[in-house]
Amino acid sequence: MKKVDVILGLQWGDEGKGKVVDVLTPRYDVVARFQGGPNAGHTLEFCGEKYVLRSIPSGIFQGGKTNIIGNGVVIDAILFRAEAEELAKSGHDLTRQLFISKKAHLILPTHRMLDAAYEAAKGSGKIGTTGKGIGPTYTDKVSRNGMRVGDLLSPDFPEIYPRAKARHESILQSLGFQYDIAELERQWFEAVEFLKRFWFVDSEYFINDSLAEGRSVLAEGAQGTLLDVDFGSYPFVTSSNTVCAGVCTGLGIAPNRIGEVYGIFKAYCTRVGAGPFPTELFDQTGDRLCSIGHEFGAVTGRKRRCGWLDLVALKYSIMINGVTQLIMMKSDVMNDFDTIRVATAYEIDGSRTSEFPYSIDGDLKPLYTDFEGWKCDLRGCRSYDEFPAAFRRYVEFIERETGVPVRIISVGPDRDETIIRN
Ligand code: GDP
Ligand code: IMO
Ligand code: MG
Repeated sequence: MKKVDVILGLQWGDEGKGKVVDVLTPRYDVVARFQGGPNAGHTLEFCGEKYVLRSIPSGIFQGGKTNIIGNGVVIDAILFRAEAEELAKSGHDLTRQLFISKKAHLILPTHRMLDAAYEAAKGSGKIGTTGKGIGPTYTDKVSRNGMRVGDLLSPDFPEIYPRAKARHESILQSLGFQYDIAELERQWFEAVEFLKRFWFVDSEYFINDSLAEGRSVLAEGAQGTLLDVDFGSYPFVTSSNTVCAGVCTGLGIAPNRIGEVYGIFKAYCTRVGAGPFPTELFDQTGDRLCSIGHEFGAVTGRKRRCGWLDLVALKYSIMINGVTQLIMMKSDVMNDFDTIRVATAYEIDGSRTSEFPYSIDGDLKPLYTDFEGWKCDLRGCRSYDEFPAAFRRYVEFIERETGVPVRIISVGPDRDETIIRN
């Protein structure tokens, strides 16, 4: 029986997961998203076109593959419709390629309002969420109040929706939150009819049957390990398990069915939204990473905070996920840098540690190892041998420190700007 390979982020999201899923899709029959929702923004570029996917798996552009939105995902019918219609306009008809789990949970218009209300109530402790209703939807799932895709087909649907809405409205009132969702609600009901044109499936059977029939499956993660609700920089995290274990619960895959775990990281580090970030740069170097790397959120347009690569955090993420192969993105952004720094340990209250601590807030100082920059354009390189020696030293240092091979190196946003090492 085949195994499920996994691609997931090792930092705070936006590592380039969408691009790599698209590049690797030709090796697979099925691509499945296992968690998150439209808080994700996965960018793909090929043939001079650029696409941003939020809920739809990034395998959709490599013709004829099966794409699945798994039970661990939360879906906003309005945003799903906008995404699917945009793809249809550019000639990508999804109806025969995309399958949606009946057990995926639905984001209601009032979930978006609750997201905004909870953020407003937090005052200066705001998470800086994407405002897509992610937290409140997962909260309803766990508290056994959620609405699932399968409910849309139930004769009880006309009663389920108003019950959920009334419950949300009483919370919104208690928080004194002013809102008007009449228009959003109208759009939501229309979008729900649109959603119903897709195949709703028991995706756990669908995927396990596919494996039993010898079909290969790639699981696509959203967000990153440091945003995981259990292992991330809590409470500044998202509300799902972004780590490898999330593949098991988000698709119905047994742990012994997991194959390769591809961990993606940027050659530096970014974070969008609030929360601690030990290697963050507040100087011109940080601004250069932001402007050369076009570090602005694909979903919200927010400026991403930038800093040096953090190997303490990276090693932690590799451990939690059981990463078997590393994928390094965006090295080209540092082409002109004289010096490149990597945090290899932290100093906390005067003591040195190479472990990612319970809290990365407070008196924490990253300790850096410096590398000479490669000072040339990597974007033209198409094999590992073509890379300059200074760059190879950087890659091989990361491999030695982590004990995991860097198998794929991306040197530009385009599908073709990808080096796969043998
Ligand atoms: P995801 O959420 O992990 O899929 O990543 P995003 O799409 O949010 O952010 C990654 C951004 O970097 C996108 O704008 C990509 O087009 C771009 N990108 C991906 N790989 C590379 C690379 O190797 N070099 C450069 N310069 N840009 C890249
Ligand atoms: P992709 O899949 C980067 C961040 C938000 C916020 C926190 C919680 O494109 O890598 P949420 O709306 O999930 O409740 O917000 O998580 N966040 C992301 N940051 N990339 C993402 O997705 C993100 N999805 C959520 O900025 O700090
Ligand atoms: Mg993104």
